[in-house]
Amino acid sequence: MDNKIHRERYTGILAKLYDGLFDNFTEDIDFYTNLGRKINTPILELGCGSGRLTLPLARAGCKVIAIDKQQDMLNILKDKMKKETQEVRKNIQIVKKDVQKFKYSFGYKFELILLPFNLFSHLVTQKDQLNSLENIHKYISDKGLLVIDLNLPNVKEMIKEDGKIKFFYNISNTLKKTIVEYYCPKYNFSNQTEEVSIIIEELSSDGTVKKFFTKDILCFVFPREMKLLLELADFELADVWCSYKGEKFNYKDSPEFLIYLANPKIKN
Ligand SMILES: C[S@@+](CC[C@H](N)C(=O)[O-])C[C@H]1O[C@@H](n2cnc3c(N)ncnc32)[C@H](O)[C@@H]1O
Repeated sequence: MDNKIHRERYTGILAKLYDGLFDNFTEDIDFYTNLGRKINTPILELGCGSGRLTLPLARAGCKVIAIDKQQDMLNILKDKMKKETQEVRKNIQIVKKDVQKFKYSFGYKFELILLPFNLFSHLVTQKDQLNSLENIHKYISDKGLLVIDLNLPNVKEMIKEDGKIKFFYNISNTLKKTIVEYYCPKYNFSNQTEEVSIIIEELSSDGTVKKFFTKDILCFVFPREMKLLLELADFELADVWCSYKGEKFNYKDSPEFLIYLANPKIKN
């Protein structure tokens, strides 16, 4: 067991193991590449990480400005880009910035801004959430589309799971290893946060097992709250979907995740 606590989830060895855990998750790729193909400006992808989505977007011919605050994740994306054609590489511009406060002079506004795969849950306080949305607003074009893909809290399940250990695993094509994540969530319902203790196990084919420990804190957000946050940041919620096929969320079911689609409010 690697006894060090890795304070940051997306740094060091844990950044390397990220693809090991998620390289087979491809459910959202067609949804985002289809959106990307319809627009004329580059896409602003926030929290791009190691490029799980960035690379398929670039391969589909979309130009992507890929932003993340963790250099270690971006380094992995840079390494992966070396294996791509020059055309794909040219489609990606990497920018290391924090979504809450980045300032950048792109020279144009974006028709499509993405916060995919739960990035929003990493914005832990309401101030973080609003700062980010207000900042993003500066970069979106008048008819632009903001897409936020975020887990829907299921309170009944959360109460059952509170303090219990759960796990999932992935047989990683990238690392040629099996990666297991054990996680134990502790929910704070008044603050809408989830503190997670995490052990990641790396199982090699020669039988070696390495374990790494980290903690994370995430925020959970309800749909009505998201609508208000968007409104406060001068966005208008256009639609809420509960699948990557565009099924509408009906506010009665509890799907696992929601896709919030918002536009900047129309100025009179
Ligand atoms: C769940 S990962 C998603 C990575 C990638 N989008 C994907 O779909 O695999 C979340 C990413 O968001 C980044 N992140 C978290 N908070 C951020 C912030 N405030 N600004 C920029 N990036 C952030 C993390 O470094 C991490 O790479």
